[in-house]
Amino acid sequence: MTESHQPKARDQWGSRIGIILAVAGSAVGLGNFLRFPVRAAAGGGGAFMVPYLIALLLLGIPLAWVEWTIGRYGGQHAHGSGPGVYHRLTGGRPWAKYLGVITIFIPLIINFYYIFIEGWTLAFSIFSLNGTWDKAIAAGEMDKFLNGFIGAESNAYFDGPWIAITIFLLVFVLNYYVLFRGIQKGIEKLAKIGMPILLICGIVLVVRVLTLGTPNPAQPDWNVGNALGFMWNADWSRLSDARVWIEAAGQIFFTLSVGMGAIMAYASYLKKKDDVVLSSLTACSANSFAEVILGGSISLVAAAIFFGAAGASQIATQGSFSLGFITMPYVFAQMGAGGIMGFLWFFLLFIAGITSSVSLIQPLLTFLKDELDWSHRKSMAVIGAINLLFTGFVVFTIGYGTLDEMDFWAGSVLPVVSGLIMIVLFSYFMGIDRGFKEMHKGAELHLPRFYKPILKYVTPAYLLFLLGFWAIQDWWPTATMQNVTDPKQFLIIGVTRSIMLAFIVFLIYLIYRADRRHKFPKLMRGEE
Ligand code: PHE
Repeated sequence: MTESHQPKARDQWGSRIGIILAVAGSAVGLGNFLRFPVRAAAGGGGAFMVPYLIALLLLGIPLAWVEWTIGRYGGQHAHGSGPGVYHRLTGGRPWAKYLGVITIFIPLIINFYYIFIEGWTLAFSIFSLNGTWDKAIAAGEMDKFLNGFIGAESNAYFDGPWIAITIFLLVFVLNYYVLFRGIQKGIEKLAKIGMPILLICGIVLVVRVLTLGTPNPAQPDWNVGNALGFMWNADWSRLSDARVWIEAAGQIFFTLSVGMGAIMAYASYLKKKDDVVLSSLTACSANSFAEVILGGSISLVAAAIFFGAAGASQIATQGSFSLGFITMPYVFAQMGAGGIMGFLWFFLLFIAGITSSVSLIQPLLTFLKDELDWSHRKSMAVIGAINLLFTGFVVFTIGYGTLDEMDFWAGSVLPVVSGLIMIVLFSYFMGIDRGFKEMHKGAELHLPRFYKPILKYVTPAYLLFLLGFWAIQDWWPTATMQNVTDPKQFLIIGVTRSIMLAFIVFLIYLIYRADRRHKFPKLMRGEE
């Protein structure tokens, strides 16, 4: 055996609650508070909860168990990212390591834009306290304010994205500082401090929104009851639209951080007999609570109370950013103690964001350290440089839809593909019986046996169906950019796609390099 086969000492979680909070921290993110309410309202309100809950039970929770299990399993062999984990899962099939590229690629790309938006949340929490946007609110120009802030246009409020960039750099340093400190002293500590703060902010905001009464004299019939009704009354007709089912599934993937390599990397720092079944379920439950109860009662409900159904519907169709960063400042401006509430809202988003973005950077970090034997410092320096460069690209091209393009591929389509690969390798190559046994090592909760056929047939079939449907309905118009008319935008989206492709090729090359260093040796038959 060459030296590189010897498992090196890897970082470890300090406590069970630590990793649960860290995974919950990864899961609870901007997706819970910005993406979810808009998707739910657009997808039929209460009716959306049907495809959502089905996807949670049949895709999200099972895949989370699988990802925790294979992550912990990989960690025992000093592999915490897709290439090494898949190599072992399949008993050393030569192609498997290359499939693992997707679990490093997805979080890397998501992070390019995610961490930038995280900066907006921190900036906006400061703006709430010092009234930076008072003029914009009085003039009804919050949309201009946001556009000016992110540099999509130059206007009376901002000339260029300089404040956004400065704050982004601050957030960038904070993220890399946490990662630099490592799993236990960095990520675990952040989660242990951040998650309680997040919970408190969330509860205060929910209580505030639910006790608003009928605050807007111009909307005398709009109170909390109607607003909750607006958000949650079921429009069952939406369920016949297959797109709603796809969106619900996409939301489950994104919000639980499953299928993307983040949980795998975290779980690889578990000990052999640390429970995964109950821990994973706990983290998933925490995320659902934060999403449905907190996320579902704050932003859109408050918007409906102040702007009525017509206003809120319009807001819901304009998307997540518009709700979070344009509408919410208006809402807080009209609310008693609005400055403080606004601060709590954006600070909550910031905490939700940072505990997620560190988990987006970790998979590549784990890969470089495990498979190329790079030092922690060197890996961080390289990833940090790449991060700066490409977030920079997003910053300066944001007006052309680069962010949406990255979110579409890395945040919506590929996670489903990746989840399918993960579950097929687990159920068919590792084998469901062996996989189930592995999952239950040290388990504090035993799953009923009917989960075996779910993992083997139901989850993969469901994923295949979703992908097939997407392929038939959306693939061609999206791939050929049929809705893009502006030639400059066409070019920039083309560049964005080329960059993403180049990353895939580059990561595959790194896997090849790791292979040359004998990181993926032939395995004996039956070797576990
Ligand atoms: N789950 C996070 C959210 O809801 C996003 C995320 C996706 C984080 C994938 C890590 C990995 O915002």
